[in-house]
Amino acid sequence: MFSVDRKDFGPNFVFGAATAAYQIEGGQIDGRGTSIWDTFSATPGNVKNADSGLNACDHYHRWPEDLDLIRDAGFDGYRFSFAWPRLIPAGTGAVNQAGIDFYDRLIDGMLERGIKPFATLYHWDLPSPLQDKGGWMNRDIASAFGDYASLVAQKFGDRLSAIATINEPWCVAFLSHFLGIHAPGYRDVRAAARAMHYVLLAHGTGIDALRAEGAKNLGIVLNLEKSEPASDKPEDLAATNLGDAIFNRWYLGGLFKGQYPEELTSILEPYLPEGFERDMPIVSRPLDWLGINYYTRGLYRASPSTPIFPIAKAEGALEANDLGWEIYPQGLTDLLVRVSTEYTKVPIYVTENGMSEDNDERRIAYYDAHLKAVVDAQKRGADVRGYFAWSLLDNYEWAEGYSSRFGIVHVDYATQKRTPKGSYRSFQGMLHNTR
Ligand code: NOJ
Repeated sequence: MFSVDRKDFGPNFVFGAATAAYQIEGGQIDGRGTSIWDTFSATPGNVKNADSGLNACDHYHRWPEDLDLIRDAGFDGYRFSFAWPRLIPAGTGAVNQAGIDFYDRLIDGMLERGIKPFATLYHWDLPSPLQDKGGWMNRDIASAFGDYASLVAQKFGDRLSAIATINEPWCVAFLSHFLGIHAPGYRDVRAAARAMHYVLLAHGTGIDALRAEGAKNLGIVLNLEKSEPASDKPEDLAATNLGDAIFNRWYLGGLFKGQYPEELTSILEPYLPEGFERDMPIVSRPLDWLGINYYTRGLYRASPSTPIFPIAKAEGALEANDLGWEIYPQGLTDLLVRVSTEYTKVPIYVTENGMSEDNDERRIAYYDAHLKAVVDAQKRGADVRGYFAWSLLDNYEWAEGYSSRFGIVHVDYATQKRTPKGSYRSFQGMLHNTR
């Protein structure tokens, strides 16, 4: 059980669970197009055990059971994502009616159960035909994304409580185009620089499109880490500053100040799209809320042998999850306070937080400590309005495949049987307690 109580978070605080389409849906039928994760996972060496999202949690068919789990836990909201290739299989052009029907059923199913739909437009499953044209490296992605956003607003907008454009733009751009760990798996600084800008241009274009259709409560979801130096050496402090610019400030600065950090634009200048500055008013369109996904801290040390960015991630001494991510609840408090004092006064939602771990007792302790960290941030003035556990279900953890389990509900992939874990019961206890 958790040591915090629902009422500690203030009135109207939204508790929810989160998932993403490719990680749970399966159901690659009924006209759903191919995405970059279908091809990336089918390419040897990219994903542990060569796992793919072909079946995942079969949520495409089992969604009523999954929504029942959300309702029975006492969650107020459900953060899910639309699969772009299910709605517009080629990325642009023809709409797939079976895809519209699926999300109609899903959203109506939430509303029938009293669950608030928190939707994400892009959680990494880019339609392959758009990748063939350069994907996030091609400026045209912005207008394609805008058209997709318009469609979602037209079909579903009036039933959604909140809409996020992009999930974790750092992953879309840097992890996927510079580090090569996620689809499309590029390791190229020019590709990365372009994606870093176009992902935010697409976001702003999406916001304009959603607003033009009358959609309300619009935001974006950033993955942020508390940046800390591995030592007090001046070179490690400088490495931390650069790491913070790449991971946090590129996105926070672009979105909320209309400006990218100078130390990065000077490094990336030869690779960024010419005249990118002219796009900054679109990148920094006003938002109604900000989502923050938080898991761990970023510990940095100088690494002069690393080209372009002379930094490396250091291994810290803190207890870690089974992927080696350090557990650092204080970092969540500090980040929430930092963002709300330095960047924006819009309401903040913790849109993901959770732990990859087989030992659920440790997961319960992780949640408990991070929930407390949210309350601490509120006490220090951060306007935090909600918290979503990652994840409702064990699911497809991208390059880690099915070996990593983040769920508060266990999934037996052979039978698709769902079994609530102790962490699910802890949320249930807290949420039912005070109603
Ligand atoms: C971030 C991503 O949004 C989600 O898809 C992923 O599974 C979790 N973090 C855990 O890595």
